[in-house]
Amino acid sequence: MAIALKTTVPDHVPPHLVVEYDVWSEPTNPPDVQFAMVNRLHAGLPDIIYTPCNGGHWIVSRMDHVTKLVRDTEVFSSASSSAMPPSLEFRLPPQDLDPPAHIKYRKLLLQFLAPKDLSKQAPHVLALCTRLIDGLAGRNGCEFKSEIAVQLPVSIFLAVMDWDVSRLREFVGWTIDIISSNDLARVQASLPKLRAYLDGEIERRRASPGDDPISLLLASEVDGVPLSDKRVQEIATLLFTAGTDTVTNALTFAMSHLAKDVALQQRLRAHPDEIDGAVEELLRRYSFVNVYRRVARDVLFEGVQMRAGDRVLVSLAAASNDARWVENPNHVDLSRGRCQHVAFNTGPHACIGAPLARLELRIFLAEWLKRMPDIRLADGFAPNQRGGAVMGVESLEIRW
Ligand code: HEM
Repeated sequence: MAIALKTTVPDHVPPHLVVEYDVWSEPTNPPDVQFAMVNRLHAGLPDIIYTPCNGGHWIVSRMDHVTKLVRDTEVFSSASSSAMPPSLEFRLPPQDLDPPAHIKYRKLLLQFLAPKDLSKQAPHVLALCTRLIDGLAGRNGCEFKSEIAVQLPVSIFLAVMDWDVSRLREFVGWTIDIISSNDLARVQASLPKLRAYLDGEIERRRASPGDDPISLLLASEVDGVPLSDKRVQEIATLLFTAGTDTVTNALTFAMSHLAKDVALQQRLRAHPDEIDGAVEELLRRYSFVNVYRRVARDVLFEGVQMRAGDRVLVSLAAASNDARWVENPNHVDLSRGRCQHVAFNTGPHACIGAPLARLELRIFLAEWLKRMPDIRLADGFAPNQRGGAVMGVESLEIRW
């Protein structure tokens, strides 16, 4: 959401750390947004900078700083760290909670997002991938993002939550409006519709509980107190916003890379055992989520004086592509062995949906490579990428 407001730089920020850097309008033209972001942040700028754009915030982008910062929840709080304008800010537990409350709510999600519970989703994910890919039979191209990358995660999410699959089109529309449109008017129009659906769902599950996530949350307690309907709605809103558009972006980035790298498609088709590693390397190279934190008390962090109330953008995209950490980071290289990245963040808030995301990405890629010939970008088409806290590819025209 663009709040291109430029503020006065606070007195405690030394002038040499001030750089006008608008994460929403960083170069989004080809070759790619991560490349541009990392190049700008890591080529010549101080390791930690302060931008007056978007209300004013620090940007931390080096892997060692990032991993240290996100673990220090006493100083770097997740509460009130949102980039949303105050009128649209809504609670998203456990993501916007600090210890000790954070872990109490996070544990509730493990009732249905633990890897052992997700393995039962694998046949469903496979069936859906097959159906979507079969739907392309007889064609020689598609707009991958809208035809596949949005449909798959929303469908899987509805299945995991046991929500109304017949309303898939509406959910897809809400995902686009609320999460990826960067358009306040669309967020304002669609958020109440999602909330109204959730209200109905909560009422229905209260009246007739099952073993679905909403019923499990309604039956849960924190400190001996049952969760209120409002709390359950907030958690469900987080799951919806965190669990759909992210996978869409990961799929689209991965396929936009493969469309430019036929040798990699052929290698993975010949060696499917390398697909899991390729998913990790593509997640690293195209790390697209950046997170915010709020400084809870004055701190000298890596030699930089930050004051209580300052906001910090933690660039996971830049950290995963930090040349001090990974050799030749712009290169997708399957021979790195275990590739460490922070696409899912690390520390207490590390993505709890990562096992589901990995399941979707691995199964999709394996099925695609098995069933489809080599793909390439449509002639003259250059994928346009968007910046912001969560980066994405706007559309992806591929041909085969
Ligand atoms: C490729 C796909 C995904 C990426 C790159 C991703 C990335 C992230 C990141 C970076 C965070 C940390 C946020 C922070 O530190 O403030 C996070 C948290 C979270 N993610 Fe994901 N995510 C993905 C998929 C999913 C899915 C599929 C779900 C669930 C269905 C999910 C649910 C969550 C939740 C609930 C949190 C909050 C965890 C906490 O605060 O303890 N994510 N995700």
